[in-house]
Amino acid sequence: ATQLVTTAAELREASARLLGQKAGRSQGLVPTMGALHEGHARLARTAVEQNDVVVASIFVNPLQFGDAVDLDRYPRTLDADLALLEEQGVDLVFAPPVEEVYPGGEPLVRVTAGSLGEKWEGASRPGHFDGALTVVAKLLHYCIPGSGLPPAGAFASGGGGLPAYRAYFGQKDAQQLALVRRMVADLNFPVEIVAVPTVRSEDGLALSSRNRFLSAEEREAALVLSRALRLLAERATAHQPLDLESARAMVESQSLVGLDYFDVVDPLTLEPLAENCRKVPFRGEGLALIAAKVGPVRLIDNVPLSS
Ligand code: PAJ
Repeated sequence: ATQLVTTAAELREASARLLGQKAGRSQGLVPTMGALHEGHARLARTAVEQNDVVVASIFVNPLQFGDAVDLDRYPRTLDADLALLEEQGVDLVFAPPVEEVYPGGEPLVRVTAGSLGEKWEGASRPGHFDGALTVVAKLLHYCIPGSGLPPAGAFASGGGGLPAYRAYFGQKDAQQLALVRRMVADLNFPVEIVAVPTVRSEDGLALSSRNRFLSAEEREAALVLSRALRLLAERATAHQPLDLESARAMVESQSLVGLDYFDVVDPLTLEPLAENCRKVPFRGEGLALIAAKVGPVRLIDNVPLSS
């Protein structure tokens, strides 16, 4: 059964016990803000397949929200979330109150995302990625496997050393994923970051906890985002010129959609690819990023390009 813990002390103790019990050699962490859907379930399931012990965290992080209204409005569905995580075979759910994570109020010392945090999503959400990286850093530390006091000999079967440690992030939030990878590399976090492909509904819309705020008409209009991305992916695979302009025009013709950005970038640096291969056949690897306001909701989506 899934165990719910709310303090760092309980988490360390439970994690050490489980790793000891199962003679576990690996632990996976799935950080979330709750309001879970099939996208989160996919992350959890992947973590369960790859690790002996899996922790999912549920924490709506005030540090990454620009305004208090958005923070208050963020859906909270703890009971349903626990049921979904239990179904995927998650061992531990860490759902701390704000005071546990930020006991003295907002932290003085934080992680900064640098220039990579200022473009794309960062441009319209100042400070968002600093806040997200700061809490991801804290969550990665809370969940270091075996950092409690394991029972004597608990790790003996694996032959010493700390258990493997993996953390799971969705490709859906491509910039967050790229930044977490950079943080882990730049600051030597002892964890492997695993990317999980975007889960979509049958009509193509990327699953998001914010989709619930779309009317039926807005939801229909929002489909143009994934359609435009799919078009670019198909052109890339077929070694055709991407013709980003025509794909942009397709999105802009949809009156309920307010396009913010739509570009093709390097998957690691998120720098725009040279002239976006408009006239020449696409070769290599890229990432098409899109963001738009649809009704009350800001939607983001992306697709890997490969040929
Ligand atoms: P949240 O929005 O709850 O997302 C948690 C994880 O689920 C993220 O890694 C996100 O990329 C992934 N995810 C969301 N929708 C997905 C989809 N349709 N397919 C695949 N994965 C999807 O991202 C956050 O929370 C926070 O910023 C967090 C990392 C927890 C830090 O507070």
